[in-house]
Amino acid sequence: MILKQIPVGTFQNFAYIIGDDKTKLCAIVDPAWEVDRLLDQCKELGLTVSFVLNTHSHHDHVEGNDAVVRRTGAKIVAHEKSPLKKDIQVKDGDSISIGSLKVKVIHTPGHCPDHICLLVDGNVLTGDTLFVGECGRTDLQGASASEMYGSLFNKLMTLDDATKVYPGHDYGNKPSSSIGEERRTNYTLKPRTKEEFINFMAQP
Ligand SMILES: [Fe+2]
Repeated sequence: MILKQIPVGTFQNFAYIIGDDKTKLCAIVDPAWEVDRLLDQCKELGLTVSFVLNTHSHHDHVEGNDAVVRRTGAKIVAHEKSPLKKDIQVKDGDSISIGSLKVKVIHTPGHCPDHICLLVDGNVLTGDTLFVGECGRTDLQGASASEMYGSLFNKLMTLDDATKVYPGHDYGNKPSSSIGEERRTNYTLKPRTKEEFINFMAQP
């Protein structure tokens, strides 16, 4: 498979291209800020864009949706709770086929209600749920530290340690990591009860 991480915009966002070697179909994950660059990359790789996948509906991750759709005819895939325009709505446990690739949807509310992480071939795209060395904010509208606890500890931390982590922003000391490395080093993932985690997230 092809997995390209592309820094875009001025908020340290990462967009991604997930491509299938066999069929040359691909998805752009969280297209924003630099749609020309993203589409040029797809073209260079010989890929046809079939889907836009949104990890969540925050502006800095979806700002390029319409431009990509206009120029490629791609279908927008987002969680069923996403308030934005979508062609295909997904929920926890669903999978999306990009040619011969299967992308599994993990619903991870906490940063916002419609947040999903995308698991494909030993890689997890974690959006604004988990960053390298950090987790997503839970003080914005629709956010919940209680739900974030479940998403981090009962969902992402059940993945295999070898799973590579590709976040939605470049907030860490390197652009990507692994579940095992985050489990060992990420201070937000230290063992805590749910109550302890909620108190921890409420601290400035
Ligand atoms: Fe966000």
